[in-house]
Amino acid sequence: MNYLITGASGGIGKEIFKEIYTNEDKFFLFYNKKKIISNKRNVFSFKVNFKNLNQLEKTIKKILIKIKNFDYIINCAGNANPYKEFFNTSTNEIKDNIDINLISHLIILRENIERNIKNNKSLTIVNLSSNTISFNGSQKNIPYLCSKAAIEAVIKNLSKYYSKFKIRINNIRPGVINSGMTKNLKGYDKKRFRKRIGLIPGKKPGSPTDVASLVKFLLSDKSKFIYGQTISISGGE
Ligand SMILES: NC(=O)c1ccc[n+]([C@@H]2O[C@H](COP(=O)([O-])OP(=O)(O)OC[C@H]3O[C@@H](n4cnc5c(N)ncnc54)[C@H](OP(=O)(O)O)[C@@H]3O)[C@@H](O)[C@H]2O)c1
Repeated sequence: MNYLITGASGGIGKEIFKEIYTNEDKFFLFYNKKKIISNKRNVFSFKVNFKNLNQLEKTIKKILIKIKNFDYIINCAGNANPYKEFFNTSTNEIKDNIDINLISHLIILRENIERNIKNNKSLTIVNLSSNTISFNGSQKNIPYLCSKAAIEAVIKNLSKYYSKFKIRINNIRPGVINSGMTKNLKGYDKKRFRKRIGLIPGKKPGSPTDVASLVKFLLSDKSKFIYGQTISISGGE
């Protein structure tokens, strides 16, 4: 079986890979800045910046020529920058965020769903959105809110129309997860992070392993009757 994991160099992506790796399957891991070096069997890593949509499309097509199709896709790449007041967000910042968190994922879905339907192959997809949608986003993160809300709607739609062709697609809404993501957010400091934790009913962040276990379940046959759902993993928020 062929697996694609985007955002495989991130806190959650790394755990997903650890959780699902077997040496009988092939793993295609996408990263952006943090190079993935693996000496495991059948692991292939690719540097792809999702701001560069042409590069992404070419990379996907190149891989597909070799392997014919993916059987499993985990869309884990995400970037919450810029974290700033909406009125101070530039057009390019809005566009970049939406390219990374939405358009790239649309390209990946488009290139793969049609191919698997034509070849009568099943495809199981897990996407990661964000629990920020539950409370209409934070004040300083409008582009991220837009892209995550949009991809959730897309997933519902694709599931409605393509489940009958062995395409099974579900979505996870992580709440606050201790993955290091907020460390990369300019303007989001430790004090703010602690305050944010205080709002979680369980008063603690989740771990990347919590999310990875749910991804594993949604990829497995144990969840074979779950289609088109969004599941929150957010300490009760
Ligand atoms: N952690 C949380 O609290 C939380 C909450 C809600 C939702 N999520 C979602 O969960 C997913 C995983 O996040 P995480 O916590 O693992 O964050 P993370 O540690 O910051 O990892 C983010 C991943 O996305 C990749 N990425 C970022 N910008 C990219 C770009 N321009 N092109 C291609 N890839 C890019 C990163 O690649 P490099 O590291 O190589 O640059 C990394 O692999 C994301 O979709 C995120 O939105 C996380």
